[in-house]
Amino acid sequence: MRLFLALWPDDDVRERIAAVSAGLPNKCGRPVPRENLHLTLAFLGSVAGDAAGDLQRRMAAVQAEPFNLVFDRCGWFRRARVIWLAPSEAPAALADLAQQLREAARDCGITVDDRPFQAHLTLARKAAAPPGHLEFEPIRWHVDRFCLIRSETRPEGAVYRILERRALSSG
Ligand code: 2AM
Repeated sequence: MRLFLALWPDDDVRERIAAVSAGLPNKCGRPVPRENLHLTLAFLGSVAGDAAGDLQRRMAAVQAEPFNLVFDRCGWFRRARVIWLAPSEAPAALADLAQQLREAARDCGITVDDRPFQAHLTLARKAAAPPGHLEFEPIRWHVDRFCLIRSETRPEGAVYRILERRALSSG
C-alpha cells in the first residue's frame, strides 16, 4: 500500500485553507480537493503490510510536543508545478517531528528519501503559473497530532484514508 505521514488539519483549519485555495487564479491548475488537504511529513511510497503494521506500533514511541504553525506564504514549485501554502517561520519542532518519523520508518525497514524536509501544504497541482500576489489572512494551526495515511489512486483521483493518529504531548 502507498503510505505517507502527515499533519491532517481539523475542519476549521481545513475550511480556512480551502478558502485561500478558492481565491487562486485559474492558471494555478487543479485545486487539491478540500478533503485531501494536508501537510506531508514523510512520503513513504509503497510499503508492505507487515512494515506498515510495525510503523503503526512504532509511531507510539515518537516524542514531540504540540506546536503552532502560521501559514502566511503562498508560492509555487516551478518544476513540480505545485502551488503551496507554507509558514514563513516554522518552529524547529516541525522539522524535528519530520525527522523522527523518517527514522521511525527506517527502523521498520521502509526506505525514505534523504531530501531535506521542505514544509509545504499543496493547494493545487499542474499549475502553469505562480499565484502572484494573493492577499489572505494568515492561518494559525495548533498542531497536536500526526497521522499515517493510506493513498489510493482511483479514476476520480487520490483518495486518502487515515490509518493511525497519534497525539503530540508535552511531557
Ligand atoms: P506534494 O504535496 O508536495 O505533492 C501524498 O501523495 C503526499 O505525498 C503529497 O502531499 C505529496 O507531496 C507527497 N508525495 C507524493 N509523491 C512523492 C514523492 N515521490 N516524493 C516525495 N513526496 C511525495
